[in-house]
Amino acid sequence: MDNRPIGVFDSGLGGLTVLREILKVVPNENIIYFGDTARVPYGPRKLEEVREFVFSITHFLSQKDVKLMVIACNTSTAAALDALQARLPIPVIGVIEPGARTAVGHTANRRVGVMATRGTVESRAYDKAISKIDRGIKVYSVAAPKLVEYVEKGQLCGQALDGSIYDYIEPLLAKKIDVLIMGCTHFPLIEGRIAHLSGDNVKVISSAVETARDVKNILTKEGIAASGTGKPFRIFYETGKASHFYRVGKMFLGEEITDVVSIDLAM
Ligand code: DGL
Repeated sequence: MDNRPIGVFDSGLGGLTVLREILKVVPNENIIYFGDTARVPYGPRKLEEVREFVFSITHFLSQKDVKLMVIACNTSTAAALDALQARLPIPVIGVIEPGARTAVGHTANRRVGVMATRGTVESRAYDKAISKIDRGIKVYSVAAPKLVEYVEKGQLCGQALDGSIYDYIEPLLAKKIDVLIMGCTHFPLIEGRIAHLSGDNVKVISSAVETARDVKNILTKEGIAASGTGKPFRIFYETGKASHFYRVGKMFLGEEITDVVSIDLAM
């Protein structure tokens, strides 16, 4: 038994969609969430820069004595998963491998689409993760930066959003994909629109559920699950404006957020 918190982080609020799934399967765990809301989006940045941001976040979370680190951001996973696994003494989980696994499990015609940030697409992290499981699957990717902007603003429906989604998925649909990975933790918030516009022949998936399952499995395997006594705490750190976090964060997490601490990582 280990009551130290789990550290979960993202470039902003999108990682809360992963946290929501984690809380469903391990509700007794203490959680520290970090959203780098002052520097979001990570997607258009160079992966080297993202890696430096990730190092400073994980340094901060390590000082909070977390027992497990969850990179609830695809771009950060693409930039820094291997480096973190090599340098941290605790288990580190990313979202790309679980998403790849989910996609491979669902595709029948072995044609998978990925909609993600530019950083994730250019890293080819999904292509590599899928080909590790099944080399015969064809992967088609598209970078969808505008969708991150819509979601981060809390604009989750409307004609402009639909138009933007369709422009991104059209070339993937033309490739006859039967699975579309939302390779960005912001996209589950607009999953309904993405699924509607993709049509009935395409299964839209996120990595959140499978990532949460990995979290539970690792806690069990390592014997580090919380004892389950007392009310678990959830603390939210962010680098931007806390008011935005309360308002928009609630939509991502699906529950009230009460403890938000605004910090300056440079300090
Ligand atoms: N959360 C990021 C991801 O999953 C998307 C937002 C960003 O560009 O920072 O890649």
